[in-house]
Amino acid sequence: MVESKEEAKERIAELRKEIRYHDRKYYVEDDPEISDYEYDMLMEELKELEERYPDLVTPDSPTQRIAPMDTVQFQGVEHKTPMLSLDNTYNHDELKEFHERVCRGLGVDDVEYVMELKMDGLGVALLYGNRLLERGATRGDGVMGEDITTNLKTIRSIPLKLTDETVLSDIEVRGEVYMPRDEFDAMNEERLKKGEEPFANPRNAAAGTVRQKDPRVVAERPLDIFVYHLSHHPDVELKTHRECMDELRKAGFRVNENKAKVSGIQEALDYIDHWEDKKKDLNYEIDGIVIKVNDLEHQERLGATSKHPRWAIAYKYPAVRKTTVINDIEVQVGRTGKLTPVAILEPVLLSGTTVSRASLHNEDEIERKDVRVGDTVLVEKAGEIIPQVVKVIAEKRDGSQKIFEMPRECPICGSRATRLEDEVARRCVNAQCPAQLKQRLEYWGSRDAMDIEGLGPKLLGKLVDKGAVKSIADIYRLGKIQLVSVERMADKSARNILKAIEGSKEQGLARVVQGLGIKYAGKRAANVLAENYGTLDSIMEANRNELEEIDEIGPKIAESIVSFFEDERNREMIERLKEAGVKMEAEVEEAERFLEGKRFVLTGALESFTRDEAAEIIERHGGRVTSSISGSTDYVVVGNNPGSKLDKARGLGITVLDEDEFGKIIEERYLSV
Ligand code: IVH
Repeated sequence: MVESKEEAKERIAELRKEIRYHDRKYYVEDDPEISDYEYDMLMEELKELEERYPDLVTPDSPTQRIAPMDTVQFQGVEHKTPMLSLDNTYNHDELKEFHERVCRGLGVDDVEYVMELKMDGLGVALLYGNRLLERGATRGDGVMGEDITTNLKTIRSIPLKLTDETVLSDIEVRGEVYMPRDEFDAMNEERLKKGEEPFANPRNAAAGTVRQKDPRVVAERPLDIFVYHLSHHPDVELKTHRECMDELRKAGFRVNENKAKVSGIQEALDYIDHWEDKKKDLNYEIDGIVIKVNDLEHQERLGATSKHPRWAIAYKYPAVRKTTVINDIEVQVGRTGKLTPVAILEPVLLSGTTVSRASLHNEDEIERKDVRVGDTVLVEKAGEIIPQVVKVIAEKRDGSQKIFEMPRECPICGSRATRLEDEVARRCVNAQCPAQLKQRLEYWGSRDAMDIEGLGPKLLGKLVDKGAVKSIADIYRLGKIQLVSVERMADKSARNILKAIEGSKEQGLARVVQGLGIKYAGKRAANVLAENYGTLDSIMEANRNELEEIDEIGPKIAESIVSFFEDERNREMIERLKEAGVKMEAEVEEAERFLEGKRFVLTGALESFTRDEAAEIIERHGGRVTSSISGSTDYVVVGNNPGSKLDKARGLGITVLDEDEFGKIIEERYLSV
């Protein structure tokens, strides 16, 4: 029995070490040494001691894998090194070209490669500092990902602390989170029994799970990980990719056993052929093979393009193709009024999922492929998610097939559907079209935008049909009675939705801009606009030239933004959103609030800002602007003809900044004076 706190501390350390060891044996090496019962006893003892001495709990303790619900936040985070994706190919000749490029680049005749399986899950980056897991993030756009640490911690094969066997300590590691096939099947069976919707495939299940808001749910789902890349390892001398992987294994990570060192392209191709046949026997899905130059110095010399490293490539196995029949062609109306023809297929099983619809994209595409209702077609699913109609099997025609004509009217509201000269799409001209409205509302509430849980397509559809919601702004006027009356739902669900709507007001500018669904302005553009302008008002006032001056905003996006805000209906809707209290300012990071607590007085005419703009900038960074100078004023910013305030400031010994100095401070986010 442990008596004193000192003893408890020692025992806690021992228990943690032992549990970590057994976790690794069980979850990483698949070679357990003790029974589940014995393991549970160790865990129980640790939990009891930690309950008795809460101040001895540390975040890396094995008891801390499941975070309390209220601590979960998926914030945007910048990756330590950009998370590049791999260039990929489906054919052997392109692989040979890759090999030739590598040889040419290095000035050698042959190169050593490492062949690895390309796991089909979702890529994550794990950051360790001082051996402790600090952060886990999704790939996102490669530069910024989403912080999903709390969920990743529930995966027992991710060490919360690196072992003592490794020299690694401050590192960034990349890996693939996935769901084993057998566990996926068992989970889906359970879901069906409970009347829940089954997941389409293991990859969707894994991707959906890591973004779950409740870590307890995540902990129950059978996620696992393989790591495959050490992207940051300062101060540690490693020469090859293989050495990195060995070191990661020593550090406690799960590294896939199925890999080979090959020299030259023929051996690489043989390896690919070998797995094409064998991949069905694995307990996880792979969609190809990754070929990596082994020597790290070679990797560095080859470098990367803006998207892919030049030292690696993924060979993807060809898509699974099957024939089926097109029973009908439906026309869907999207958020921007675009009409999309969709083939309704006789359901077929394609690499694990039943496919019953496939987009036909637009009328030109239908004409090009000569797709008719009743045709037998070849469909494929290219490893990824979206099924495609590859071609018509013309020999199967019996004369009953019907040529499809794209409607000239919107199938939902009956308004004209026109085709602009330089567009392939036909669009419904009625901005009030209920189909467009439903999609816009859904987009506004979606995870990437305002993230309003519970406000799904079904509910929105009913709200629109009943006339309760006619614009995005109406979402903020919904009350419990309306919700309960359109869809029979429990009081509690209605309350939760209203709470989510209320909470969404604080999402900040980038998400608001994205939620507006301006054509061509996706997530990246929304972030860039929010960063550059800080408030929605400033974005609305920007003209085309100004917008185009921003690095990542091209003429097409700029024009779309301007015309969106020119539309009186949009301006009015934004006004109503503001009135409802939707925050329209950019989130400024703690570090950016470098003027916190500082008081400013502005005087004289400034040239590059209006007074209001300067005040807004100061306030955004945490400072305050007052009109008169006093002993508590920290800075006076002077423009032309400052008048008496300048003398007063000097008299009181207050720091005076001219416009250039002020501009520099803001730009550098640093108070140098
Ligand atoms: S290496 C800088 N190795 O495939 C190189 N990726 O675009 C980083 N993937 O985003 C990637 N298995 O999510 C690598 N053995 C493997 C992989 C692998 C699966 C994923 C990864 C990446 C995507 C390719």
